Amino acid sequence: MSFLSTSLARVKPSPTIAVTNMANELKAAGRDVIGLGAGEPDFDTPQNIKDAGKAAIDAGKTKYTAVDGIPELKKAIVAKFKRDNGLDYDTTQVTVANGGKQILINALMATMNPGDEVIIPAPYWVSYPDMVLLAGGEPVIAEASIQTGFKLTADQLEAAITPRTKWFIFNSPSNPTGAGYTAAELKELTDVLLRHPHVWVMTDDMYEHLVYDDFEFATPAQVEPKLYNRTLTCNGVSKAYAMTGWRIGYAAGPKELIGAMRKIQSQSTSNPCSISQWAAVEALDGTQDYIPENNKTFKRRRDLVVGMLNDAQGISCPKPEGAFYVYPSIAGCIGKTSAGGTKITDDEAFAKALLEEKGVAVVFGAAFGLSPNFRVSYATSDDALTEACTRIQDFCAGLS
Ligand SMILES: Cc1ncc(COP(=O)(O)O)c(C=O)c1O
Repeated sequence: MSFLSTSLARVKPSPTIAVTNMANELKAAGRDVIGLGAGEPDFDTPQNIKDAGKAAIDAGKTKYTAVDGIPELKKAIVAKFKRDNGLDYDTTQVTVANGGKQILINALMATMNPGDEVIIPAPYWVSYPDMVLLAGGEPVIAEASIQTGFKLTADQLEAAITPRTKWFIFNSPSNPTGAGYTAAELKELTDVLLRHPHVWVMTDDMYEHLVYDDFEFATPAQVEPKLYNRTLTCNGVSKAYAMTGWRIGYAAGPKELIGAMRKIQSQSTSNPCSISQWAAVEALDGTQDYIPENNKTFKRRRDLVVGMLNDAQGISCPKPEGAFYVYPSIAGCIGKTSAGGTKITDDEAFAKALLEEKGVAVVFGAAFGLSPNFRVSYATSDDALTEACTRIQDFCAGLS
């Protein structure tokens, strides 16, 4: 019998981390590699937030805290949900964890029984299906297409629901596509859910603040208040406040679920870092002025990347509403052969050849459940993006 658990065999390592590692190895070997795989802003954490972290250390806020968050942070989260989303929660409905990732796994561990199904729209963030598997449930993938801007339709959601469905995981703006659902588009999905009272919604609003042009963010419990009692609204400070390393995520939802999530956390990690929690209070309560400033930069980069990728032969790149990703199709490249002699049979072959021949690291679409595509993270400098996209254009021009 294997020493390692059988549930581990159901799970694969994160492909996005694998791409980053491969790019780092090539870099270490002296190759000139541009990484477009990173899932984090390239901005520094704002000064007021860093200062709050330092002040917490100096004030001796360095001990264990309440398992799922200090009262001050829970209050800031309650205020955030009211201010940004028009949602009323009290602090007993709020939980804080070590990043958005722990929030999601806590919720799944707290609710999955064998045979329980979780609907995940594809393209999906790589961790959703594996987290469901790790928690003992069954991911049910519902594929959205490029024709609908990578957004799931009401009919597709309806078709994926069975008596075993426990959760519908919703993520807008999306990692990996950047697609954001308008309130009207989201309402079409929440109308379906109203007809299926046994299905709960886990909404991952991590990219809420990273939206461009006139796009207005919407979240399920706000669009359909009748879903409030079966919605877990998840969020975090990682992306909007450039705090990926501080590891603070949070959620609000029904008290009983929040209590179950706290129980899981109490027997695994206990509280998230005390210093990070105080920094997160400042992130949520302090000035929000740099968010639109950062967004101007992200929007400029998005437009740059979308424009240059659409000029590459065989690539078609929709312009997404938010996040810092684009998800171009390489349908026009499939079946061709690269200048270096690689047959482009699928998006993994494309990404590998692009890295080897041109030193550009992207994540292939199969990792996110929809092919043939690749994900570009444009959370890097304009110069690096221009150079990377020029290399992608050269790579595509060399396909025959
Ligand atoms: C959609 C989505 N949800 C959650 C997370 C996890 O965020 P955190 O770093 O706070 O764990 C990420 C990070 O990449 C993400 O893209």
